[in-house]
Amino acid sequence: MDLRFTEEQNMMRKMVKDFAQKEIAPFIEKMEQGEFPRDILKKMGELGLMGIPIPAKYGGSEMDFASYIIAIHELSKISATVGVILSVHTSVGTNPILYFGTEEQKQKYVPKLAAGDYLGAFCLTEPGAGSDAGGLKSRAVLNGDHYTINGSKVFITNGGEADIYIVFASTNPAKGTKGISAFIVEKGTSGLIIGKDEHKMGLYGSRTVQITFENMKIPKENLLGEEGQGFKIAMGNLDVGRIGIAAQALGIAEAAYEAAVAYAKERQQFGRPIATQQGIGFKLADMATAIEAAKLLIYRAADLRAQGLNCGREASMAKLFASKTAVEVTTEAIQVFGGYGYTKDYPVERFFRDAKVTEIYEGTSEIQRIVISKQL
Ligand code: CAA
Repeated sequence: MDLRFTEEQNMMRKMVKDFAQKEIAPFIEKMEQGEFPRDILKKMGELGLMGIPIPAKYGGSEMDFASYIIAIHELSKISATVGVILSVHTSVGTNPILYFGTEEQKQKYVPKLAAGDYLGAFCLTEPGAGSDAGGLKSRAVLNGDHYTINGSKVFITNGGEADIYIVFASTNPAKGTKGISAFIVEKGTSGLIIGKDEHKMGLYGSRTVQITFENMKIPKENLLGEEGQGFKIAMGNLDVGRIGIAAQALGIAEAAYEAAVAYAKERQQFGRPIATQQGIGFKLADMATAIEAAKLLIYRAADLRAQGLNCGREASMAKLFASKTAVEVTTEAIQVFGGYGYTKDYPVERFFRDAKVTEIYEGTSEIQRIVISKQL
């Protein structure tokens, strides 16, 4: 049993940490005003960060899965916005093509996605089908050499900025989840209508939009996998995607914890630093313990994934626990900061706002419990 990172993984951590501090930290204020980090993503592409686990044959960095998780973890310590953009782009925007695409589809799209020339998005959720993803109503009908897709999607991360959308629609509603198919849709396709930009509680620099398909025509060759395979493609990629969101939650929790420790050592009340007072010291101890536990769950799930083993249950456990940890630790961090924590002068209020969604997207905590309990 070896719980240490390899030299290569440690180098990845250092590289991403340095990059995040140098390139992302100065841009946080702009992102907090709603600016999408285009230039940062371009630089990440140049460093090979937009295709970390993608094989070199398809233009990726061909690094192990844990290195990819390390990158999301470290980026999210500085910016959870950049963390989620990378996670969605890789896990559910690029991997479905890599794992289920034809050789032609892989050659056409994956190198551009891995280089960061293209950004990926994943269109599963609908107004009436969130947790019950299999209940989606978007419809795809084959007419000769193309499919015509109609329907609407909500909460699409990277929507409006992405170049490639993995779209799920039913080709045979009578078959339920077995009638769902997946499609590769390029930006600019006629009938792909980007709608309302959601005004979110946090992650202000990431875009989350509604999307409508109005008689959107997709060439037949853009079907991903086979007709009816879509739900398995969605679920299979979410299994892995959830480790990425867990790593994002971990990054947020660590950032809040480190800020709280630094403040508690400096802030004096009753004649001594609050860190030396039991009420605060115990809080910090609980935060540190939960973070350590989340870290172990996440890197264990990542290791299973790296070995090509089933990791659905472990990924859900990691996401369930890490997102809960992020919400609890960021809440306690504000408590440590007291009144100052409730102001925008300190970053803990941003961490608190960014943390909550990790208990919601890529499957709510309740859905993670369903996935876990079904496998017990
Ligand atoms: N891998 C492969 N196949 C899977 C699977 C998996 N992980 N999970 C289910 N399947 C298969 C099942 O085996 C079954 O096929 P068979 O009948 O051939 O065995 C089929 O799919 C249907 O399975 P279920 O009956 O279990 O499906 P269900 O309708 O009960 O739903 C669910 C299961 C787990 C609740 C699922 O609907 C789910 O995960 N919901 C949450 C949706 C979600 O996570 N959305 C996130 C949107 S993306 C996002 O949030 C990105 C972002 O912005 C950050």
